[in-house]
Amino acid sequence: MNPNSLVSIDDISKEDILDLIERARYFEEHPNHKILDGKVVATLFFEPSTRTRLSFETAVNRLGGRVIGFSDASTTSSSKGETLKDTIKMVSNYVDLIIMRHYLEGAARYATEVTDVPVINAGDGANQHPSQTMLDLYSIYKTQGRLDNLVITMVGDLKYGRTVHSLLMALRHFNPTFRFVACDELRMPAEYREFCRANNIRYEEYKDFSPEVINSSDIVYMTRVQRERFADIMEYERVKDLYTLRAEMLRDAKMTMRVLHPLPRVNEIAQDVDDDPRAYYFDQARNGLYARQAIICRALGIDIYESEKG
Ligand code: CP
Repeated sequence: MNPNSLVSIDDISKEDILDLIERARYFEEHPNHKILDGKVVATLFFEPSTRTRLSFETAVNRLGGRVIGFSDASTTSSSKGETLKDTIKMVSNYVDLIIMRHYLEGAARYATEVTDVPVINAGDGANQHPSQTMLDLYSIYKTQGRLDNLVITMVGDLKYGRTVHSLLMALRHFNPTFRFVACDELRMPAEYREFCRANNIRYEEYKDFSPEVINSSDIVYMTRVQRERFADIMEYERVKDLYTLRAEMLRDAKMTMRVLHPLPRVNEIAQDVDDDPRAYYFDQARNGLYARQAIICRALGIDIYESEKG
């Protein structure tokens, strides 16, 4: 496995996280720094995406590199039965970095085992989405001025939502207090509750998305119910409309609180929230460009500060 790969947020240290945030801030100020001249990056998306793929590709383009790849695996030879292993080994012949989204949990880890090229996990099933976590952390840092000692409320699909799983793990370094708001069917999985207990992280579980929970939060992290992960569509229908944030629910929330959402949203944030100054999800998506520029450079072993000196 290439040590510069990023498969799980748990693979990198607190120092790495803080360093990536610092570098994301650099790229926000210098988004067109051409340091990837001659580098080719593959984006292999076996699952649909708007933000992750386009922001990664924009990041490469703004840094002066080139992108190859696909956004629809049905147009590739995997539709003829080519294995993931063979696809990864083939693409590794052509590129310096692979960015991959796959519907199977563990697919990114597997990819690192069959290639020496660094791999960035752009989401694997309901498991992990570490680049989303870095942009979430950058967004939290920018809006709260710190990562430590925050009250973070996660709402909605905590079972299948890979972004909340990654974010929860990353925040273990920063003494968070979590509120998990979900129905029984979408409850935060036992392994993540156990992770909290093992790391002395406070958490409370709620079924009711009440004003008390919202008003005492620093971050309200809304999530979409992940229809594509349900084996039983009737169960999806039963739970899909349980949690919706509306503008009037923010009346007594802290003015410093921010509403985050990895997007896409369906109906879990009403359109009227968009006009509230605490709505931050579109800015959050923009932060993804800078966070991903920092992640790409790390994966390629390129130190922006050294290149500045040179
Ligand atoms: N947040 C996120 O992963 O969005 P996409 O599915 O559009 O990439």
